[in-house]
This record gives sequence, structure tokens and C-alpha cells, in this order.
Amino acid sequence: MPQRTSDSLHAAIIMDGNGRWATARGLPRVAGHRAGAEALRRTVEAAPDLGVGTLTVYAFSSDNWQRPPVEVSALMKLFHVYLRREQARCIEQGVRVSVVGRRDRLPRMLLPVIEGCEQATERGRKLHLRLAVDYSSRDAIVRAAARLKKQATRDDLSKALGGEDVDLLIRTGGEKRLSDFLLWECAYAELVFTPVMWPDFDASHLAAALAEFRSRERRFGTVPKVALG
Ligand code: FPP
Repeated sequence: MPQRTSDSLHAAIIMDGNGRWATARGLPRVAGHRAGAEALRRTVEAAPDLGVGTLTVYAFSSDNWQRPPVEVSALMKLFHVYLRREQARCIEQGVRVSVVGRRDRLPRMLLPVIEGCEQATERGRKLHLRLAVDYSSRDAIVRAAARLKKQATRDDLSKALGGEDVDLLIRTGGEKRLSDFLLWECAYAELVFTPVMWPDFDASHLAAALAEFRSRERRFGTVPKVALG
């Protein structure tokens, strides 16, 4: 799989803790998701100056369809509002927006908004924001493999998956698992887990995660630089 050559990083975030953040305040879970959308806006604004070139965020997993219908429907409405509301800001800030994941199960009203936002922002070069919606990494790998011929290489599969290797994966909310997110792309990602609930996440937390990332030596299976002589 090609490793990145440019200086800008691919960071990925599992935005966890919205529900607990809301419950702790006596609010409905959806209030946590609304506050989470604000945290995403802050993070997108901060990311380019911190050296992030691509940011992939887990907004809705394919397993999230199992949540209560009222929560699912609130999340779908929130995606709709977010994409429409943030489009102008993204154009202004040079942010290209893409949505990754299955589209055939999304509410029909969401599709033109997704396509409109992708088209309107396609010239953005400061940050590529990838929103993973109805996303399952295992399903994405299965679908990519099915499109390839039998003797496909690692590079073929990477290309078929359409993303770049992840450099840094952050998960908020205190849990330490990948939850079917970017499993192939995270083969050599550095993992940072933080107890901060996603709605509280801001530029300072992103900067701290990046400082942690930069303090680590990435070896990609080889030995420490000092041992190479
Ligand atoms: C996980 O927290 C979060 C989600 C399943 C939804 C993520 C959605 C947002 C952050 C909304 C903003 C996104 C966009 C694209 C507008 P959880 O609900 O599982 O939290 P819990 O573990 O505390 O219950």
C-alpha cells in the first residue's frame, strides 16, 4: 500500500461519546449529536493549520441502523442540515467534502444534498473532509475485492477502496476499539484514544493528538532509525 509522501496527514476520527455527554446533562441523546456537529465544525476549521490534509470522520456506521428509529432519523436530519449549512463555509475555507459509505439505504432526501455539497466543494484544496455515513470497513473491503481480478495486489485493493493510508486515528469517548472503521487503511496508523467526549473536542485536543503522533517513531515494520546506522 502506498505510504504518503506529502507532509500533510490523513487523520481519522471515531467521534464517540455524544450520547453519554447528553445523558450526563439530562438531555436527550440527539442533543449530544447536535453538539457533536459543532465539534466537527471546530475540528474542520482547525485541521489544516495543524497539518491535516485529509480528515475522515465516522458519522454513522452500518451497524448504527440498529439504533432506535427516532435517533437514526434525527441523525439523518442532522446530516442534511450540516451539509446544507456548512457548504458555503467549506467553499470559503477550501474544504472539499466527500461522503463515503453506502448510499442506497440513505433517505432519498439526503442524496441531492450530498451530491450538491460534493460538487460545490470539489475544488477545495486545503482539506479533504470525508464523512463516513452508512460505512462498514469490512463491507467496503468485500465490495472492493469483488470488483478486482483474482491476482490483485495490495495497491490494487487500496486503489479500489479509494482512500489513502491513515496516519493517525483518534477515538474520543474513552473506548479503545476500531468498530469496523478503515481497517485496511489503518494498517500502520498511530492510534490515540482520549477520554474526552466528542462534543467537548476542540482544536486543543486535536493539537494534543497530533503532538502525540509526532512524538512517535513510525517504523513500518523495520527497526529504529538509530539501529539502521
Ligand atoms: C457515536 O457516539 C456517535 C455517532 C454514532 C454519531 C456521530 C455523529 C455526529 C458527531 C454528528 C455530527 C456529524 C455530522 C456529519 C453532522 P454515541 O452516540 O455512540 O455516544 P455514546 O457512546 O456516548 O452513546
